[in-house]
Amino acid sequence: MFPRGFAWGAATAAYQIEGAWQADGKGASIWDTFCHETGRVFGDQNGDVACNSYKLWDEDLKCIQQLGLTHYRLSVSWARLLPDGTTQHVNQKGLQYYNKVIDDLLAANVTPMVTLYHFDLPQTLQDQGGWKSPDIATLFDSYARFCFQTFGDRVKLWITINEPYVCAKLGHEDGIHAPGLREPGVAAYLVGHNMLRAHALAWHSYDTVFRPKQKGLISLALNSDWLEPLDTDCAEDIAATQRHIAFTLGWFAWPVFVTGDYPEVMRTFIEANSKKLNYTGESRLPFFSKEEPAILGTADFFALNYYTSRKVTSASGHFGSLSMKSDAGVQDILNPSWPISGVSWLAVVPYGLRKLLSYIKKNFGDPAIYITENGFAQVGSLEMEDVQRAEFYKQTISEVAKAATEDEVNVCGYFAWSLMDNFEWADGYSARFGLFHVDFLDEKRTRTIYHSGKEYAKLIQMYSSKHFDTLPDELSK
Ligand code: GAL
Repeated sequence: MFPRGFAWGAATAAYQIEGAWQADGKGASIWDTFCHETGRVFGDQNGDVACNSYKLWDEDLKCIQQLGLTHYRLSVSWARLLPDGTTQHVNQKGLQYYNKVIDDLLAANVTPMVTLYHFDLPQTLQDQGGWKSPDIATLFDSYARFCFQTFGDRVKLWITINEPYVCAKLGHEDGIHAPGLREPGVAAYLVGHNMLRAHALAWHSYDTVFRPKQKGLISLALNSDWLEPLDTDCAEDIAATQRHIAFTLGWFAWPVFVTGDYPEVMRTFIEANSKKLNYTGESRLPFFSKEEPAILGTADFFALNYYTSRKVTSASGHFGSLSMKSDAGVQDILNPSWPISGVSWLAVVPYGLRKLLSYIKKNFGDPAIYITENGFAQVGSLEMEDVQRAEFYKQTISEVAKAATEDEVNVCGYFAWSLMDNFEWADGYSARFGLFHVDFLDEKRTRTIYHSGKEYAKLIQMYSSKHFDTLPDELSK
């Protein structure tokens, strides 16, 4: 069972679905630039058209209604609203588009959850240093204020930044996401730091200026695998697991939910590696300034993106190169018994979500938790009768139900990734995460429900009919 009012949703992101990359005065984003360079994305594909949701929003709404969703998580494109990234010039057409989306959702009795930043920085801001520049925090805050001011009368659930870990690491350490920088061991920490500063400024703006009237909630979406020691009796593996969590989820969750600062072990290991490398620059992990608004407490709920799990062991002789991997000194391993969904990194481990939810309850102050993304990909041969994905959703959601009832985790919602097949970043259109199939070869981008979409709709119906108001007596403390 799930608590009354549990949010049943699906999620998308602007660049992955909208297309219309230049329409009506939209500015370019770093993903437009990245995809237009050769060799960056699978098959040199791009989001120029994607699902064409900018034109076909009505079709998306039909899909949302067909599933019976109570909530829909979307992101707004910064460069569609503010083409040069600043509030000096507002693109009215972009604004109209999102106003219509939000109004239509509300008219259909679907609650929007809006993400302000889902990987797509305006290119003009990248040209000024992007997330590496300290100035980005106030620029983001202005953009966020503009969105609260414009949409906040109707939007009550906000996410500032989606997956700062992925933006920082994949975009600035590994170079496989936009802006495609490879500056290992340095840039990602700086980017992560500025993302936290930006998030905190926006949270404080909302809290002081907008919340009194608008009464919404705001957080940031953190991705995390469930991590467990390879050998549960081995002290080194246990320590490595804790370190791995510190360098991934902890990097962002510790400052926001626990101490206002990075996990201690992160700093010690980075400093130790710097020393070993005779790295003489400033500390690679920046410090939070006491002059700036506090980071601690800047989340009204915990927004979790969960996809997969890993076993963890210590990497021998790990120090010695300038990279996050070398700093952390861990190695993660796939358990061979875990089935792999279409994409190689996505081992299907439904129980991992239940464990992770308990971990969050225990370590981050028993927060209200929304699972803001969780999903399963198909690659290669296309199956409309995608029984594996349907089974995946069934099992995963039943693990969430156990977390809600047996473990007393305050879980408030579940958003499937994704409403429909879309542009899967570096994998282009080769990985399909949708509950609806999208025909990318057809100009009309026809959406057709998968078997898993029908099954998800049934699960929503079934679970909505037997909610609990508070925890059953035998479970309350
Ligand atoms: C997340 C991301 C989504 C989606 C998903 C599946 O990291 O937020 O945009 O692509 O992964 O890989």
